[in-house]
Amino acid sequence: MAAQTQTIEVPNDAELMQAQADLWRHSLYYLTSMGLRCAVELGIPTTIHGLGGTATVPDLRAALSLPENKLPFFRRLMRVLVTAGVFAAVDGGETERFRLTPLSRILVDGVVADEHHSQRCFVLGTTSRHYVDAAFALSEWFKKDLASPVPSPFEDLHGARLFDESTPLLDPELDAIVNEGLAAHDNLGIGTLLRECRDLFKGVRSLTDCCGRHGATARAIVKAYPHIKCTVLDLPRLVDQAPRDGVVDYVGGDAFQCTVPPAQAVMLKLVLHHLSDDDCVKILAQCKKAIPSRKEGGKVIVIDILVGPSLGPVMFEAQLMMDMLMMVNTRGRQRDEKDWHDLFMKAGFSDYKIVKKLGARAVFEVYP
Ligand SMILES: C[S@@+](CC[C@H](N)C(=O)[O-])C[C@H]1O[C@@H](n2cnc3c(N)ncnc32)[C@H](O)[C@@H]1O
Repeated sequence: MAAQTQTIEVPNDAELMQAQADLWRHSLYYLTSMGLRCAVELGIPTTIHGLGGTATVPDLRAALSLPENKLPFFRRLMRVLVTAGVFAAVDGGETERFRLTPLSRILVDGVVADEHHSQRCFVLGTTSRHYVDAAFALSEWFKKDLASPVPSPFEDLHGARLFDESTPLLDPELDAIVNEGLAAHDNLGIGTLLRECRDLFKGVRSLTDCCGRHGATARAIVKAYPHIKCTVLDLPRLVDQAPRDGVVDYVGGDAFQCTVPPAQAVMLKLVLHHLSDDDCVKILAQCKKAIPSRKEGGKVIVIDILVGPSLGPVMFEAQLMMDMLMMVNTRGRQRDEKDWHDLFMKAGFSDYKIVKKLGARAVFEVYP
């Protein structure tokens, strides 16, 4: 054993050079994250948008009121962000201009437009000191013998849970940012869902959006399908802040304890990835009680990330990063198809179907 550890297979020359470059990339990816955070804090996407959609570095420097001697540094930041796909470079040299890409368009702030949900707070939350500190604590957390249910590194380090009444006690500013970021994250793509999954709501007369927050998704569903009677169930403190416009009904309650308002279909959109397997089974079982038999059109609609390499390495990496985000900060996780199958069966459902894959997410119909 000892003799073996004294020898090592040394990579060949080409492998060694590539290994070093890969080591740089993986050790330094946090600088891409922080560069993105810097762009959001400075308001670069919003400024390019305000300047008509493209801008040179001197335009941006002037609009952002940055000191003249920061120009060369700013160019270097923009070069990394172009490589990461945050911005696109048009022309080169002296006339180089930068324009928004789809990624930076969803970071433009202060614009009120249908289906535009600025993801600015998602970036600020996920790159916040509290999140980064929790990630720093990962190796210590692995070594600790923590009793089940195992708290996340975030919870273990900060003594507070995210998206919970304890978050504002930890830091009210973080609480505001993560809640705004979560809402923006969850609202992105509602229009896509309605356009791409028309059959999902066909024949549905009543729907309960379980853990549906302030009802943004439910209101969009009713707008597209006015015949659907929609009820949103969420915690009383959330429901109390919801707009009472008569479009949807609201019920305040704890989905683990209360009766989920009965409906032909119950929806769980981007809820389960925040929860442990045990909690998912509990909440799914509660939803099952609220729907009629499959023959009568009863179903639970689950919209969540479906981990798998089928959409290519970039989408797969994004899903795995989102899984790490859940592991470090919540008790939830992202799931592959077998994980979803097992949850549905454990909760007492008989069958399920993947209706559609929408980017990293999938839409499931789950039958009683
Ligand atoms: C990630 S958000 C999803 C929101 C919504 N489904 C959407 O897509 O916009 C999770 C929601 O679950 C709610 N929630 C958490 N625990 C709950 C519980 N025990 N009972 C009811 N709602 C709960 C939260 O208040 C929050 O609005």
